Amino acid sequence: MIISLIGYMGSGKSTTGRDLAKTLGYEFIDLDQYIENKYELSVSEIFEKFGELGFRKREKETLAEILHKTNVVLSLGGGTPVYYDNIDVINTNSVSIFLRVQLPQLVKRLENKKHTRPLIAHLKDEEMMEFIAKHLFERNHFYQKAKHTISITNQSSSEVLNQIMDILK
Ligand code: S3P
Repeated sequence: MIISLIGYMGSGKSTTGRDLAKTLGYEFIDLDQYIENKYELSVSEIFEKFGELGFRKREKETLAEILHKTNVVLSLGGGTPVYYDNIDVINTNSVSIFLRVQLPQLVKRLENKKHTRPLIAHLKDEEMMEFIAKHLFERNHFYQKAKHTISITNQSSSEVLNQIMDILK
């Protein structure tokens, strides 16, 4: 089985994914990390060299490659489900879980973490709320196609993990 975690940047996909993989005894794969190792470039460098479209093509190709594996927890990039037919491919080949985090919390979490994320790296702190609100509005349609949704407010990471384990029972 493959479990894929979907959600906006800063929603905790990688942290939760790592914990979940450990609990299940599955391999953990972070899609961005995997892409960085495969192409020997950081996500930001891929955006710079090949543009966003160049990144999306590599992302799609790598996603297909990983979905052939088994017993994997896969943390997707925030934009992965939004491009091409990726959400259908994800839902056909994995159990998808959307980690839904409210806007103010996302903004807070991303303020010191935007430099590695080319889509928001250029934003000033006071521009984050409006940008992310609009971005989420465009993306929620795709995120909501995930098989399961977990709403995260103030839960600790172990509470989030328990919620996911309940879903998987
Ligand atoms: C992106 C999210 C990033 C990374 C890239 C684009 C997006 O992943 O794939 O910077 O379009 O939301 P994280 O969600 O892991 O930050």
